[in-house]
Amino acid sequence: MPQTPSLPGTTDRRLAALLTLLSENATIVISGARIAREIGVSRTTVWRWVEQLRKLGVRAKGQRSTGYFLEKVPDILTPDLLRKRLKGNLFGKRVLHFFQTDSTNRVAMELGYAGEPEGTVVMAEAQTAGRGRSGRTWHSERGTGLYFTVLLRPRLSPAQAPLLTMLAGISAHAAVQALTGLVPELKWPNDLLLNGKKFGGILTEMHAEPNAVRFVIVGIGINVNQEKFPTELSAIATSIRKETGRMTYRLELLARLLAQFESDYNRFLREGPGFVVDRFQTVSSFAHGRRVRVETGAESYGGTTAGLSPEGLLLVARDEGPLVTVIAGDVTEVR
Ligand code: BTN
Repeated sequence: MPQTPSLPGTTDRRLAALLTLLSENATIVISGARIAREIGVSRTTVWRWVEQLRKLGVRAKGQRSTGYFLEKVPDILTPDLLRKRLKGNLFGKRVLHFFQTDSTNRVAMELGYAGEPEGTVVMAEAQTAGRGRSGRTWHSERGTGLYFTVLLRPRLSPAQAPLLTMLAGISAHAAVQALTGLVPELKWPNDLLLNGKKFGGILTEMHAEPNAVRFVIVGIGINVNQEKFPTELSAIATSIRKETGRMTYRLELLARLLAQFESDYNRFLREGPGFVVDRFQTVSSFAHGRRVRVETGAESYGGTTAGLSPEGLLLVARDEGPLVTVIAGDVTEVR
């Protein structure tokens, strides 16, 4: 198994191995001696780590003398389990896990500059400064949502990089639909909605030369099992749990999403932007005939969505004036 080099703040690989071992044998008592042998630490360390896991809400039962077992498989994103699910996949090679970090995009950006290979995944149980679009923050409650970033090194021009945001939206849309049966709305360029409320967003950042991308990081946030949101978000945010009334296993959703994203990404590299633009227009009913208001910073205008340009930019037929291409800005639906 490829080893993940330790990075300050990442979950200790052996602690993650302990969690995996317990998860794979849930409800079966495993002796402290066996755990110690299998993960290569002392029995005292095993006991200490079990205590640590309990503090994180993992329901580990048992004691030093008898051994340990999990009462319930925790919904923790153990990197080992994700790697196993993504064997042979671009995103199954290097997985970095944090119990908490400021922003997985910030970490991935640094890894990009440090020469980390394409496909590296950075995920966190909680973010203290999750980044959203237009300088907003992304509410990242511990252990309930998916907060992760992938590092890509595609041969693209900087102008094509935003297509990766749309591509990630398409992949996330497909994974959510396949796993939950829900049919989300995909709003250009990066919002995933259920019943008109946002439950997912994508923030792509890049480092590029004038004519070529050096690396791109695609950060994805999905509200999975949140039961409530802070007051200021409750009117505009939702989660998969709120819409279905049941828990979704985050690791399963993440594994499906990344498998889908790899296949969509390869197709984009093979076939070019047309694939992304066509697929987006098929999946997103928002791209056609919706009444919207566009705020660009410089101006604000009303209009009706009229499809995407071949480069993936939104076309809007202005109420007063011509058909325009939205290059940047916030597009809100007017109901
Ligand atoms: C948006 O505003 O819609 C984009 C939200 C993107 C949030 C994700 S959560 C994981 C990754 N790390 C961040 O700091 N942001 C992205």
